[in-house]
Amino acid sequence: MASAVTLVQGASRGIGLQFCKTILKRHPGSVVIATCRQPNSSTGLQQLKAENPDRLDLCELDVTKDEQIGNVVKFTKERHGKLDLLINSAGMLHTSGRGETSLRDVSREGLIDTFNTNTVGPLLMAKHFAPLLKSGSGYFGIKSPDSKTQHTSILVNMSAKVGSTTENQLGGWYSYRMSKAALNMCSKNLSIELGRGSKPVICVSLHPGTVDTDLSRPYHKNVPKLFTTEYSVDCLMDVVESLTMSDTGKFFLYDRTAFPF
Ligand SMILES: NC(=O)c1ccc[n+]([C@@H]2O[C@H](COP(=O)([O-])OP(=O)(O)OC[C@H]3O[C@@H](n4cnc5c(N)ncnc54)[C@H](OP(=O)(O)O)[C@@H]3O)[C@@H](O)[C@H]2O)c1
Repeated sequence: MASAVTLVQGASRGIGLQFCKTILKRHPGSVVIATCRQPNSSTGLQQLKAENPDRLDLCELDVTKDEQIGNVVKFTKERHGKLDLLINSAGMLHTSGRGETSLRDVSREGLIDTFNTNTVGPLLMAKHFAPLLKSGSGYFGIKSPDSKTQHTSILVNMSAKVGSTTENQLGGWYSYRMSKAALNMCSKNLSIELGRGSKPVICVSLHPGTVDTDLSRPYHKNVPKLFTTEYSVDCLMDVVESLTMSDTGKFFLYDRTAFPF
């Protein structure tokens, strides 16, 4: 039996794909379930599967499709019976690939599509995977000295610094900023509901830094410090592995700084 089971949602490329690689390397006894819209089209995932045939499961999951979430819950339950770490990584800036620069660019479709992927999807993942998270073994994170309040598992929502209301100095990017601000509220709410009882789940939002991926590509020339996915995810896993129940509901940067909502 695997020491730990991790599910990475949005694993086809970028930060999600790197989470799969880093976790397989750092935790040799563990298994990873990598989900994305088209697993057969992700060359990165196909290569990782060839290198780790028994430790990596690939599943189709568009986070805007409830039926596909249900299929992966069933698969995870039947194959592993638990989940120790859920990472909601899928995200988009906007349907156009660029954040709105002013009100003129705002559209109902852009807002709804961005919210559906960035906010509604992660919440529905939490809803449907909650029973499996409650069956986790507390493998990731630091155990509480009080055995009665031992956490079972960790839920990570990949957020963004620009979702902070307090730190918003520039405006713009309506869909992305609003969807991530709402995602942070989602993590906080989940930390309260899933933190109750004898099988609590640690729920956090994380910001990865500005990372060299397709999502940030249109803005790379303005970024003074662009992280590789390897560096960012190493930092994020250091944060995940250091979490305790007292951290639940918080929003952390890649360097473990707690950031205001
Ligand atoms: N890169 C940065 O600088 C940065 C900064 C702050 C926060 N973040 C956050 O980090 C997370 C990962 O971003 P990234 O930089 O790795 O982006 P990316 O390279 O553009 O990858 C985006 C991922 O989201 C997936 N996705 C989009 N819509 C989906 C849907 N409906 N269902 C399932 N998967 C879907 C994509 O899948 P397909 O391959 O199928 O399109 C892809 O795997 C995002 O939540 C992002 O907001 C990134």
